Amino acid sequence: MKSYRIYFLAILGLLASCKNNPEPENEAPNYGLIAKNAMVVSARKEASQIGVAILKQGGNVFDAMVATHLALAVAYPYAGNLGGGGFMVYRKANGEIGSLDFREKAPLRATRDMYLDDNGEVIPNKSWLGALATGVPGSVAGIFEVHEKLGSLPLETIFEPILSLAHKGVVVTEKQAKTIKEYQPLFHEVNLNTIPFDKNWKAGDTIKYPVLASTLERILEFGKDEFYKGETAKKLVGFIQNNGGIITLKDLEKYEAKWRKPITFTYDDLNIISMGPPSSGGVCMAQILKMVEPFHLDENDHNSLRTIQAVVEAERRAYADRSFYLGDPDFNKIPIETLINDKYLTGRMSDFSFEKATPSSEFSHGNIEVIESNETTHYSIVDQFGNAIAVTTTLNGAYGSKLYCPELGFFLNNEMDDFSSKPGVPNMFGLIGAEANSIAPEKRMLSSMTPTIVEKNGEFFMSLGTPGGATIITSVLQTILNVHEFGMTMQEAVDAPRFHHQWLPDEVVMEPNSFDTSLIEQLKTLGYNVREGESIILGKVDGIRVLNDKSYEGGADRRGDDTAIGF
Ligand code: DON
Repeated sequence: MKSYRIYFLAILGLLASCKNNPEPENEAPNYGLIAKNAMVVSARKEASQIGVAILKQGGNVFDAMVATHLALAVAYPYAGNLGGGGFMVYRKANGEIGSLDFREKAPLRATRDMYLDDNGEVIPNKSWLGALATGVPGSVAGIFEVHEKLGSLPLETIFEPILSLAHKGVVVTEKQAKTIKEYQPLFHEVNLNTIPFDKNWKAGDTIKYPVLASTLERILEFGKDEFYKGETAKKLVGFIQNNGGIITLKDLEKYEAKWRKPITFTYDDLNIISMGPPSSGGVCMAQILKMVEPFHLDENDHNSLRTIQAVVEAERRAYADRSFYLGDPDFNKIPIETLINDKYLTGRMSDFSFEKATPSSEFSHGNIEVIESNETTHYSIVDQFGNAIAVTTTLNGAYGSKLYCPELGFFLNNEMDDFSSKPGVPNMFGLIGAEANSIAPEKRMLSSMTPTIVEKNGEFFMSLGTPGGATIITSVLQTILNVHEFGMTMQEAVDAPRFHHQWLPDEVVMEPNSFDTSLIEQLKTLGYNVREGESIILGKVDGIRVLNDKSYEGGADRRGDDTAIGF
């Protein structure tokens, strides 16, 4: 991978961030789409096209956010959604930054032990399958909040291509046909009615979404209240309760998206802006990057033994803190300043040596005195005015709770699994939580989503993010390192093989067939448990970066149907 660096420096001289390491000169860098004015990178071509069409009509990045989000709800039911939630980080052309939390909430009737049996044991599947797994959805509130505060085009203009897409239908891709087939047994188990995804869809078929189109038409006509108080709300609540769920009309009425202060920190000459709690993404990524900063990773090869060791050991320590300290900031006092403080993080890494792995069993979260006073998809957009956003949104698992509301035309999330059902018992991503992320009415469950914007020399430099549950944070930070430390193009950075450690289980997860056997053997010799399962995919990163000539380069992850479109 180092070949990128010398190639850039010696031949193209294009990338300001490249590092000076000797490499063969015969490997040309692999750029993603380059566009002069604006770009959308998302999980589906249809969504990127619609986002760009809105920009071309004079819309800004926030109009395009609404359009892309809704287009993904139609074209990418795997994770795009009306029935889920998410986070947006933005940076306006004038440098103003902000973030919006439209994360789901626990229903008013939720209780701390709702997923435990009489013996206090976690009941398998209850927190992630079916209506009881569903949190109060935030996506519709999120897009209306964005549009009201920051949008510029009329909603009619933004909805028009979405409604047309839902009516005309979306062509099934190879990957989509595969996931639909894979999840059909669960669709059958959970849904009382037949759903559109029961059919034997093949790549090239077209799925039409007339019911979803009607829901969207009502939302356009009556606004956000249609979803949270109107006919849609009533249908949604009736459906959820018929299926054993506990969400009430009161829950929907009370839901609000919240503007929150983003997490900001520096790494070398980069200024990184990411999502704060109730996402763990910003804090955790800040901890990891700050812990590895003193190791000058650019002096090592990309994915070399030393790079992997430094990053893995920092990840291990950060995830231990995550599990203890992070949760909904409206319910917990979170010591963010201390957690990302240089002195604290230097202390956390003080027992690390390149000679051997630090077993996770030997330590847990750091000691901080808390003084009174815790399936996803990502899209990045830049507009022709210089505004940028990073948005990660989710139903949690693939197709969420697998419960599809036939009357409204969308899947419901299973975000409740992101709570810690019982301290110390892992959730579906193997993540362990404590009191800070216990279930309580109206609390937001802790997320790993890490929509991120990076500045360099005071200017916008990158927008990126990814799905991947617990691996989101480590995928985002490796992509930043790939560009910044290892001189890769955006496309190379998102495509490069990734690894992951999350404290517990104590293992380094590595993408299969991507790392040398000798490297894996060396890691094992040093005491690392390595897992390299066949089906492991670590994230599906989409991003945009600014090139030296101020044009944009898109990175659309090879692991999915992701597509960059720009002009
Ligand atoms: O918020 C979170 O961290 C999870 N609900 C994200 C789930 C996810 O990324 C699944 N996709 N692979």
